[in-house]
Amino acid sequence: MEKYLVTGAAGFIGSAVARQLIIDGSIVWTIDDLSTGSESNLAEGAKLLVGSCHDPEIISQIGDEKFDAIIHLAGQSSGEVSFDDPINDLKNNVESTLQLLNFALRTGCNRFIYGSSASVYGDARDLLVSESSNLQPLSCYGVGKLASEKYLQVFNEAGIHTTALRFSNVYGPRQNLENMRQGMVSIYLAQLISDAEAIVVKGPLERTRDFVFIEDVVRVIIQTIKNSKAFGQVYNVGSGETHSVGQLLDILMLAYGVKKKIVLEKGTPGDQKCVQVCIEKIRRDLEYRPLVKLEDGIARMIDWVKGNDHVENSLGEPSCCRLCFAESKLQSVRSRNVSGGNPIQKFWKCNRCDVIYLFPPSSEDEEEIFYRNDFEEFMGRRSGKTAEWQDADRHQKLNGEERDRRFSFLSKYLEEVTSCLEIGCSSGFMLSALRGKGIDVVGIEPSEKFSQYLGGAGIPVYSDWTKFCESNKAKFDLIIHYYVLEHIREPARFLQQCMDRLNPKGLMVFEVPCAADPLVELYSVPAFDKFYWSVAHHWYFNRNSLQHLLSQVTGNFKLFPEQRYDISNHLVWMLEGKPGGTGRYMDTFGADLDHLYKKRMKATWQSDTLVAVLQKC
Ligand SMILES: NC(=O)c1ccc[n+]([C@@H]2O[C@H](COP(=O)([O-])OP(=O)(O)OC[C@H]3O[C@@H](n4cnc5c(N)ncnc54)[C@H](O)[C@@H]3O)[C@@H](O)[C@H]2O)c1
Ligand SMILES: [Zn+2]
Repeated sequence: MEKYLVTGAAGFIGSAVARQLIIDGSIVWTIDDLSTGSESNLAEGAKLLVGSCHDPEIISQIGDEKFDAIIHLAGQSSGEVSFDDPINDLKNNVESTLQLLNFALRTGCNRFIYGSSASVYGDARDLLVSESSNLQPLSCYGVGKLASEKYLQVFNEAGIHTTALRFSNVYGPRQNLENMRQGMVSIYLAQLISDAEAIVVKGPLERTRDFVFIEDVVRVIIQTIKNSKAFGQVYNVGSGETHSVGQLLDILMLAYGVKKKIVLEKGTPGDQKCVQVCIEKIRRDLEYRPLVKLEDGIARMIDWVKGNDHVENSLGEPSCCRLCFAESKLQSVRSRNVSGGNPIQKFWKCNRCDVIYLFPPSSEDEEEIFYRNDFEEFMGRRSGKTAEWQDADRHQKLNGEERDRRFSFLSKYLEEVTSCLEIGCSSGFMLSALRGKGIDVVGIEPSEKFSQYLGGAGIPVYSDWTKFCESNKAKFDLIIHYYVLEHIREPARFLQQCMDRLNPKGLMVFEVPCAADPLVELYSVPAFDKFYWSVAHHWYFNRNSLQHLLSQVTGNFKLFPEQRYDISNHLVWMLEGKPGGTGRYMDTFGADLDHLYKKRMKATWQSDTLVAVLQKC
């Protein structure tokens, strides 16, 4: 179990980082003098030492405790306040850093992450500031941050791997709305929700800032801890977008639904005019991708202000089941492995309906990027047959056996069918076969390569469900989809929409992976476990949870267990930790044993696949 010292964990950023680390199973200690922070912010389970980081007495209270990393976020956090008492600022922001670096050296802690600030640039000559831009801090606060960074570099040479993160304007739930001298979003939001008639703005509305949402910041801090590329480095951390103060005020008022007068006052000393930070370096080194747009982040913050508690849990814990809405205490983590996901995402299991779901779900932007850039490559890597995803002809051939397996089930339903829609039809290996039986077929397929191929073969194809709905009003006797439902954010709505596109007595047949897959549930093969939990999935169903879902859709339904993979495939997973191997040991074991094996899996609903058949009444 990892142990971290997160200083300033009663404050805004520190509390969020500590909370996430604890959710991830780590031990967290903190030092906080409670000057701007409050004990009520503290994450449950964090061990608090009250006092200042520059006080050797407090440091000595930690003893020789050895931490895996120190994440130093305590400090006097306002540029404006730093002018009131610069010596005090120096103590809180520089001496503290030095004390902690010394402590790290003494105790053999070799990882140190520091919350620096974009204020080190001052009014830089470059419009877009990168880590190599000129450093000309305008406030005592900025000077202190820069001095701390320089100390980090000195100690990096002494063997502590240090990283300084220069935050732009961080905002989000739990930001202190009572401190009118720190934060920008929080200061204006506090005035917006108060009884005051106007919002007072110190400085011109044309100033620009990069506002970055707390969750993006927490994620990058946690990613940084273990990434050796970040050793000895300095990074800008922002959203990569800039907004003027005027735009921010518009967004806040629109989101809160209240319009107020703006009163402009003289700016505060040392305030920067324009801050536009370049985040290419951190994007490249740490694959950092800010996910939350200002409008969405503000909406989340306003939810929090209004007391909606899902925000409380938004950093990692669901407040209820995504499918049946059962309360949070019935939710538990099923897998911390989310292949392709971010460190905050996990698969949770609902102990009422049995569904396993991704939480937090990927944002729509994140999903779009994933499907646009990565999906085909990702699937190619997973199937171990990249070529299959590039060549439609080959894909058709390689899927011959899979098509036959599906038809052995589907055939009995085809008698009265004259029209069929397949959602996610890939190269069309099912549709071509159905057309061969005289059925009119239509496909939906996002992959451009496959759609072009299908178009060439004269099969009408739409790139997604929305485009299909816009331009095709036909109803069908049969709708099929294979391994699609688990990718859908709102599965009940999707299934209902499908049912609405069926003729009376029409059928929908679909397959999904079964969460009772023997390789995770029965044998728990570590390599398979890692491979199985994919960010492309919102859901993993088993018999119970799929029944729960289908009972929300109008129509009659039946479920069947199905076993796609054979005993040889399972053995190869166990022996070699990779997919493939189907049929390899057939000569040794013979078809009877394989048949028995599959039958047994199905009899207990511990098979790898579920087939659902729904009929429209
Ligand atoms: N929030 C931002 O937009 C932003 C931007 C750039 C940099 N930063 C830096 O990130 C860090 C965290 O910022 P935040 O927004 O969470 O601020 P915050 O004021 O909410 O949190 C700082 C915490 O540190 C504590 N503290 C202050 N001085 C201390 C000391 N000497 N010893 C122990 N505890 C002390 C405070 O009580 C508070 O709990 C700060 O170092 C800040 O300068 C923040
Ligand atoms: Zn549930």
